[in-house]
Amino acid sequence: MNIGIVGGGAIGLLCASYLSQHHDITVFTRRNEQAEEIRASGIKRIVKGETVQAAVHAQAGITGVFDLLIVTVKYHHLQDVLDKLSTLPPQRILFLQNGMAHLLDLENWKTDHSLYIGVVEHGAMKVSDHEVSHTGIGVIKWGAFHHEETADIKNVLNESVSHFQMIYTDEWKRVLEEKLLVNVCINPLTALLHVKNGELIANPSYEHMMTCAFEEAVSILSLSEKERLWLHVVSICEKTADNQSSMLQDIVKGRQTERKAIIGYLLKKAQAQGIAAPHLTFFHRSLEVLEKKQTKSFE
Ligand code: PAF
Repeated sequence: MNIGIVGGGAIGLLCASYLSQHHDITVFTRRNEQAEEIRASGIKRIVKGETVQAAVHAQAGITGVFDLLIVTVKYHHLQDVLDKLSTLPPQRILFLQNGMAHLLDLENWKTDHSLYIGVVEHGAMKVSDHEVSHTGIGVIKWGAFHHEETADIKNVLNESVSHFQMIYTDEWKRVLEEKLLVNVCINPLTALLHVKNGELIANPSYEHMMTCAFEEAVSILSLSEKERLWLHVVSICEKTADNQSSMLQDIVKGRQTERKAIIGYLLKKAQAQGIAAPHLTFFHRSLEVLEKKQTKSFE
């Protein structure tokens, strides 16, 4: 297939590098220098100590018609990308954002494109404009946003590539909600407290704060199986005990965080249902202040 990847961040480079094993890939970047670098050097993927080189096309901006476009930009850059995609002929577009705020934007987007949603369960770190380190091997689960999917693209994407499976599921919303729950429990607190993920369960005061976020999120999302979900959150803290969460890394590096995609979405849902969420509101406001303190030019 001809696949376009929008975004040259860690997930964009990771998808481009693996999918290039079976498909013709074009990476669309925001900066021209990054596209030039990818064209000149290809994409270098580092996985389990090995380095794999991938040849792809790359250009700044977004143009053309593809069998599939995969949008990997962070939520805070999505609106810009949707405006550009609105000018393209109808095609299939798979969105791979963290959090769930993008679902609200996609629901309101008047478009003839066929939309898909995916959940990325890989760990990846961008090393340079053309290099990505695959730090945690997971899968991508994806499904059709508003329509019944026909078999062709399902089968093509399900073609197995070692370390990079794309699994079709009609249950994508539940998968997204469970990931959101993990993210809202771990990311804001680690960013505000400046601690690694494991600290949240090692320190009883931090763990208590995490249960407050958990209770509010579970009620806003009307999730059942609370006990299983709490054990799941704790197990992710254990497995990633020595990691800095992505939100903490964003704060440390002076970047905009994904607070709107993660907590912002939950607060909108809470408001619509008349549910009070005092802890999430406090986390959201505190992160906003912290972001402004770190850098003056986010918005
Ligand atoms: O965003 C992150 O950092 C990760 O999704 C997770 C699972 C919270 C671990 O750090």
